Amino acid sequence: MSQGADAGNSDFVVVANRLPIDMERLPDGSTTFKRSPGGLVTALEPLLRRRRGAWIGWPGIPDAGEEPIEQDDMVLYPVNLSAHEVAEYYEGFSNATLWPLYHDVIVKPIYHRKWWDAYVEVNRRFAEAAAKAAAQNATVWVQDYQLQLVPKMLRSLRPDLTIGFFLHIPFPPVELFMQMPWRTQIVEGLLGADLVGFHLAGGAQNFLILARRLAGANTSRGSVGVRARFGEAELEDRIVRVGAFPISIDSTSLDKQARSKAIRRRARELRAELGNPRKILLGVDRLDYTKGIDVRLRAFSELLAENRVNREDTVLVQLATPSRERVESYIEMREDIERQVGHINGEYGEVGHPIVHYVHRPVPREELIAFFVVADVMLVTPLRDGMNLVAKEYVACRSDLGGALVLSEFTGAAAELRQAYLVNPHHLEGVKDAIEAALKQTPEEGRRRMRALRRQVLAHDVDRWARSFLDALAATKTTAPQRSDEAKSGSKSG
Ligand code: ADP
Ligand code: G6P
Repeated sequence: MSQGADAGNSDFVVVANRLPIDMERLPDGSTTFKRSPGGLVTALEPLLRRRRGAWIGWPGIPDAGEEPIEQDDMVLYPVNLSAHEVAEYYEGFSNATLWPLYHDVIVKPIYHRKWWDAYVEVNRRFAEAAAKAAAQNATVWVQDYQLQLVPKMLRSLRPDLTIGFFLHIPFPPVELFMQMPWRTQIVEGLLGADLVGFHLAGGAQNFLILARRLAGANTSRGSVGVRARFGEAELEDRIVRVGAFPISIDSTSLDKQARSKAIRRRARELRAELGNPRKILLGVDRLDYTKGIDVRLRAFSELLAENRVNREDTVLVQLATPSRERVESYIEMREDIERQVGHINGEYGEVGHPIVHYVHRPVPREELIAFFVVADVMLVTPLRDGMNLVAKEYVACRSDLGGALVLSEFTGAAAELRQAYLVNPHHLEGVKDAIEAALKQTPEEGRRRMRALRRQVLAHDVDRWARSFLDALAATKTTAPQRSDEAKSGSKSG
């Protein structure tokens, strides 16, 4: 498509692998929709509604067609994926190659040429759909690791667009990224954007090194700041900005919901349904090997064995949304978690009184908020996580200043939530000590920590995240394609 030809009519377009809703086929052949899993949708959905934009994505099942779905305040454009593409692009390259590579190779990434071919083909389809939906000079915001080639493809289809890219997962250390057989194509794909955003400055810094090494860009040397001091990768004809923008949640709305009478009542009911334990520990995750669910179960089990946790009056609730259920590493991890749950209940539970309550199903939003309100200790123990919104959701729900957050240092959230009980999930004794301290904290200590955590989460909400990214993206157009003074004065490396 040449510049502007066949332009669509949306001024603001989000492109993400998933639509915010998943299509479900019912046995009678009709279809229905449910909320999609994951933090990306949690963060972006309220935002797009407010901006009345278009959202391009996959509706979660194969061969769902491409009929636009009109909602009150946004239009959804489904991208059709065949069963074969779901297997090779989504389960394969996205979730058995990129996902483990970007999460510190917790499991071994699998490199298959066929999966890569499918990734290129599907990225092209997303780029074409975006080119079709976007109005002349529109802003298009591409999301996450499944679509890293889209910025470059889209720029060649529609050079008039302003293109942003945000990575919702960690960007790996340079040494790990260099494993990727198609590393240069991926870096060049991302450099098609005007602004490339990461949660943390470290990720932005890694990307700049790779842009220099693999794409020959002339890159800035200074350290990247948070929502400030953007890096630059200078290409032959333009400059790409690179920045750190830690994502967040709709904190005010969650705070308000958690204060409601109905939620408070439900929270009390939940405690009663659990047998009125004195202490409730809670885990809430997609069932993913990055989340360290096994770590917290092992720590809890040892604390019970050592009588450091009282089995009479303590329960652990683990809510686990099913995720990527056909990918081998996920199948194995589920078996391992369920074996551990069975073991703890077998050793320490009583008939009618399990110690671990495990739910392998998404929980409705109101129910989840009631769980956050009632949990005395929230366990967030990933081995690696880009941000982790669950940690922020818990804090937003605790206007009573009750509860305690045990948080892995290996989450993006740990950079902001410094008053949590921070743990290294690889150090089991440290995790056990932190859980014990959180269970035994005095109310004063708990309030002091929670007050500080809430200050952070309420002031830095998802609106602020989006505004900071989109303002920086708009600014690329007022300053580009001029080279910056800093670049001219030669303070860059070649
Ligand atoms: P990820 O994006 O890797 O899944 P995040 O913690 O950033 O992790 O976001 C997860 C989102 O999914 C949060 O909004 C959380 O409330 C929601 N969620 C996670 N587990 C469940 C569950 N068992 N039931 C309902 N919602 C869940
Ligand atoms: C993470 C990823 C998202 C993804 C979500 C759920 O949040 O960053 O891109 O949508 O997990 O995973 P799924 O594979 O079900 O889309």
